[in-house]
Amino acid sequence: MAKSVGFIGFGNMGAAIAHCLYHAQQDVAILAVEPHPDRQDWIHANAPYVQLMALADMLQNCKYVFLAVKPNMIQELSAELKPLLRPHHVLISMLAGVSVATCEELLSHHKLVRIMPNTPAKVGRAFTGVCFSGGLSDDETSTTLLLCKTFGECLICTENDLNTITAVSGSGPAFFYRMAQACIDFGVVKGLNETNATQAVIQTMLGAAHMLIDDPNPTDQIRRVASPNGTTEAGLNAMTAHDFDAVVAKTLESALNRAIALSKEIA
Ligand SMILES: NC(=O)c1ccc[n+]([C@@H]2O[C@H](COP(=O)([O-])OP(=O)(O)OC[C@H]3O[C@@H](n4cnc5c(N)ncnc54)[C@H](OP(=O)(O)O)[C@@H]3O)[C@@H](O)[C@H]2O)c1
Repeated sequence: MAKSVGFIGFGNMGAAIAHCLYHAQQDVAILAVEPHPDRQDWIHANAPYVQLMALADMLQNCKYVFLAVKPNMIQELSAELKPLLRPHHVLISMLAGVSVATCEELLSHHKLVRIMPNTPAKVGRAFTGVCFSGGLSDDETSTTLLLCKTFGECLICTENDLNTITAVSGSGPAFFYRMAQACIDFGVVKGLNETNATQAVIQTMLGAAHMLIDDPNPTDQIRRVASPNGTTEAGLNAMTAHDFDAVVAKTLESALNRAIALSKEIA
C-alpha cells in the first residue's frame, strides 16, 4: 500500500476513511489539509495520527490524494490545486455529482478516480463504487483499490452506474434508518420502551443482513420467514396493498435524479 496518503478536506468522510487506513496500516503517514479551525481542533483531539499541513507540502509528500471537500467547493479548490499538481498524483475524488470529465477539465489532470463511498466507512463497512478515469497504470489502479478496501467492499463500475450507486448505497443508509425509525416508533406506540424497541430493530436488521450474505436472494429469504396465513404474510400483504415497492422505487428514483442534476449543476 502507499506509504503516505493525503486528504484535502477532513470532515466526516475524510475522517472515516483516514481512521480505517490508519488501522489497516499503522505506518502509513496520513497528511491532511483542513482549513476549518474547529475541525483542526477535532483532529488534534481525536485523530492524533493525522499531520495537518499546507496543500503544497502535502502534495510534495503524497502521490495518492483523497478529495473530500463538499462538491460546491470544487471550483474554488481547483484554482489553488491545479498549479500544484504534478503528473504522478493520483486524485481520488468522492465529491458527489462531480464527474471525472469535470475534474479533468477543472484540474487539467488525468490520473483521476471517482468514488462513491457511504457513511458505514466510519466502521470499515462501506460499500464503494469506484470509477477509474483511464489515466492510471495497473499498479496505481491496484494501489487505489487496496486503499479503498480498507474502508469496506468495492465495486469497479462505470460513471453512469456511479449515479445509481449514489442512490442505492450512497444515500441508502438513510433509507434503511428511516425504516428502522418507523419500526422503533411502532414498537414504542405498542408499549415497548425505546431502548428495547431500538435493540429489537437493530438486531433484526443485522440478523437479516447476515442471512442475506448467507443467501443473497431476498425473495427466497422472505419465503422462508413467511408461513401461509401467518403473521409475516399478513404484514407482507399490507406492504403490497400499500404499494411499498412503488414507494421504494420512487425514493431511489428521486435520489438518482438529484445525483444526475447535481452533476449537471457542477459541470
Ligand atoms: N456523507 C456521505 O454519506 C458521503 C458519501 C459519499 C460521498 N460523500 C462526499 O464526501 C465529500 C465530503 O463530505 P463530508 O460529509 O465529509 O463533508 P464535510 O464534513 O463538510 O467535510 C468537508 C471538509 O472540507 C473542508 N474544506 C473546504 N474547503 C477546503 C479546501 N479548499 N481545502 C481543504 N479543506 C477544505 C471543509 O471545511 P469548511 O467546513 O470550513 O468548508 C470541511 O471541514 C462530499 O463531497 C460528499 O459529496 C459523502
